[in-house]
Amino acid sequence: MHKGADPKNPPVHTHIRPMTAHDYEKVHALWLTIKGFGIRSVDDSEENIVRFLQRNPHTSMIAEADGEVIGSILCGHDGRTGCFYHVCVREDMRRRGIGLSMVEAAVAALKREHISKISLFAFADNVIGNAFWEHCGWTKRDDMNNYEYGLNKENVTTFVTEPAKKEKKSGAPPVPAEG
Ligand SMILES: CC(C)(COP(=O)(O)OP(=O)(O)OC[C@H]1O[C@@H](n2cnc3c(N)ncnc32)[C@H](O)[C@@H]1OP(=O)(O)O)[C@@H](O)C(=O)NCCC(=O)NCCS
Repeated sequence: MHKGADPKNPPVHTHIRPMTAHDYEKVHALWLTIKGFGIRSVDDSEENIVRFLQRNPHTSMIAEADGEVIGSILCGHDGRTGCFYHVCVREDMRRRGIGLSMVEAAVAALKREHISKISLFAFADNVIGNAFWEHCGWTKRDDMNNYEYGLNKENVTTFVTEPAKKEKKSGAPPVPAEG
């Protein structure tokens, strides 16, 4: 449990559970409030996320408070390595241990599926995200380059600049979504 001692961040009763297809709309709305998130037109569409959840029905997590989705992690695996995408907590709900609790729940779900390692991308300039992963005890790899190969030109990444406002980077190569 998070210390919850900071009066600015009073503890909030939070329920963490696996994400289902029914959660898509609320989770997608949350993503659009997370500054810096890269939302992909194809990968993050309802059709694709539902397909992702069908392949990985037990591992993605959401945090709920008062019936609202206040945090989420897309998490899956390919039978060998686990992956986290779009790890986020609503801005006004941060520093209460909710992110950490979701990570723990997703890690436990991957362990149940016999996965031994998890990887994720964090933009190098994401100060908060990198501080978070360091706190969680994850190892930053400096000995690797990240390669990717786009297969679908329609899969355009749009970065969230301000909540509900988006800037389109058309033609830009797909950027790995953080977290
Ligand atoms: C990263 C994120 C999910 C963390 O969620 P959270 O619920 O606030 O995290 P927690 O309260 O569980 O924080 C755990 C620890 O991480 C570290 N941490 C979290 N936010 C931090 C911040 N803003 N500055 C420095 N350290 C931070 C702290 O060590 C914290 O422990 P403490 O509060 O006891 O000091 C949230 O800030 C977020 O949604 N950020 C925007 C999206 C993003 O960057 N996601 C990660 C992409 S790789």
